[in-house]
Amino acid sequence: MTIGVLGSGSMGAGIAQVAATAGHDVILFDKNPDALKRASDGLLKILNRLVEKGRIDDPTAKAIFGRIYFVDNTSAYKDCGLIIEAIIEDINVKKAVFEQLEDVVPEECILATNTSSLAVAAIASACDDPSRVIGIHFFNPAPLMKLVEIIPAIQTSNEVTEKCRKLIEKWGKLTVIAKDTPGFIVNRVARPFYGEACRIMEEGFADAATIDWAMKEIGGFRMGPFTLMDYIGNDINYKVTQTVFEAFYYDQRYKPSFVQKQVVDAGYLGRKSGRGFYDYSEGAVNPEPNKDMELGNHIVWRILVMLINEAADALYLRIATRDDIDTAMEKGVNYPKGLLKWADEKGIQHCVDTMDRLFDEYKESRYRCSPLLRKMAKEGRTFYQTQKETA
Ligand SMILES: NC(=O)c1ccc[n+]([C@@H]2O[C@H](COP(=O)([O-])OP(=O)(O)OC[C@H]3O[C@@H](n4cnc5c(N)ncnc54)[C@H](O)[C@@H]3O)[C@@H](O)[C@H]2O)c1
Repeated sequence: MTIGVLGSGSMGAGIAQVAATAGHDVILFDKNPDALKRASDGLLKILNRLVEKGRIDDPTAKAIFGRIYFVDNTSAYKDCGLIIEAIIEDINVKKAVFEQLEDVVPEECILATNTSSLAVAAIASACDDPSRVIGIHFFNPAPLMKLVEIIPAIQTSNEVTEKCRKLIEKWGKLTVIAKDTPGFIVNRVARPFYGEACRIMEEGFADAATIDWAMKEIGGFRMGPFTLMDYIGNDINYKVTQTVFEAFYYDQRYKPSFVQKQVVDAGYLGRKSGRGFYDYSEGAVNPEPNKDMELGNHIVWRILVMLINEAADALYLRIATRDDIDTAMEKGVNYPKGLLKWADEKGIQHCVDTMDRLFDEYKESRYRCSPLLRKMAKEGRTFYQTQKETA
């Protein structure tokens, strides 16, 4: 099957590399010739580096590159079986592009979007045959990240969903199926990792260094929330938080934090600007964490219970299955453990008690306990004992 990729920015180029590595001919189109040139140069560099590191041999690298056709118009999409769109995150632009695509591609061609935050149903609505439109959400960088979220819209046919899942798994990825709701699985469930960390800082009982130390050394996360926000870019992370908050009709659970806004306002965008929550300039001295174990444990549990609550609510609202929610967080954002597995280990009743204690203290709906957790605690169930009911 020939694969079409639309948009040759960081995601499009990465997706083209993945598909070509899996043996497909790939037609990579971008409306900007400079972006195409950058993608071509970038891909050559990456493939050469893989050869230098001994991951692939030279003929393989050449064959992968040779399978990618860089084109300046979409007419070459006429023989494609699947198009993956990775252009700017703008609903009107995406809708217009999908509408035009239908005139070019074969009737049975699947049209996928890599959108992170837009409704797949809205994009599909631009097509005469919306049943062939689906979300295929790769993570950045696409060649390295194992997880891919597959998002059928309400219009998408089951056959299209199944075909995509099988194909992307053949490409060596782990797929999870997510409902077409804001943030899908990962970007929804992970919100408290940043949001609750900011809240703790806002309340003043720990600084960034201490929270990061606790989450890394005690919680076992690969990076603390502030280090990670600096890495992602505070502007980007703040924008995602705002988008999710709006998309959830201003549910207080997703409310952005002034801590985030302030660093963005100040231009402290993270590593890329030399300063974020930390100072990355040469010779800069950053604050040392307060390695008080009691404080550290308290920080980790407060953030973790909020993550667990979010994961439980995602299951409750049937955003995805138990296994897909745990896989998504383990493979999409490298959490040390699936959150629902973690909930079982911590004790469902303990999770409920902590959420209720937080709610009593703050009287904010942000801290409301998921009805699923409460029901499970009442019935003495755990996530992994009740496989048939919840998986
Ligand atoms: N960057 C990430 O971490 C990430 C992760 C997952 C999903 N996404 C999603 O993937 C998509 C692309 O993101 P990106 O980071 O690669 O963006 P990017 O800005 O790096 O690249 C977008 C490319 O699309 C091209 N483009 C814009 N409009 C076009 C059009 N009408 N026709 C053809 N080409 C057009 C631009 O020239 C540009 O080269 C977005 O929907 C984004 O939400 C991004």
